[in-house]
Amino acid sequence: MARILQLTLNGRARTDAVADNLLLLDYLRELVGLTGTKTGCDGGECGACTVLVDDLPRLSCLTLAATVEGRRVDTIESLGKDGHLSAVQRGFHEKLGSQCGYCTPGYIMASAGLLRRNARPTEAEIREALGSNICRCTGYVKIIEAVQHAAELCAEGLTP
Ligand code: FES
Ligand code: FES
Repeated sequence: MARILQLTLNGRARTDAVADNLLLLDYLRELVGLTGTKTGCDGGECGACTVLVDDLPRLSCLTLAATVEGRRVDTIESLGKDGHLSAVQRGFHEKLGSQCGYCTPGYIMASAGLLRRNARPTEAEIREALGSNICRCTGYVKIIEAVQHAAELCAEGLTP
């Protein structure tokens, strides 16, 4: 069965015909063409597919597209404006929070969601917010530093 899906994707209203069993990850990457959201484990273990639904992180590989009807969905492509990086993007860039980069979109979206909800997170809160994400390269220390730096940039007026 198919249905009409209406949502706000990266700040713009969209209407698409989608199959009832279409995953949000496949909707974003294959139907819309937003390939910044990554397919990792495809089973809810790695966090590479993390997007924000109404500012809350969601594993798009475990989410049916139909369930975001009427919701606001943000992907990595929504961050940064007019050629300027967002606070979290700058944090990862300036603190070397990314190596191969495959996990990075998921980490950045989970971090952006955290900073939208909590502008001054403690290290424990950052670790908890990123607990569903796995990185095989960085050893995690640089990622935590990146989010702490992003929070400082937000305090200076940048958006997460
Ligand atoms: S691809 Fe979704 S959690 Fe790994
Ligand atoms: S930077 Fe390579 S998996 Fe995280």
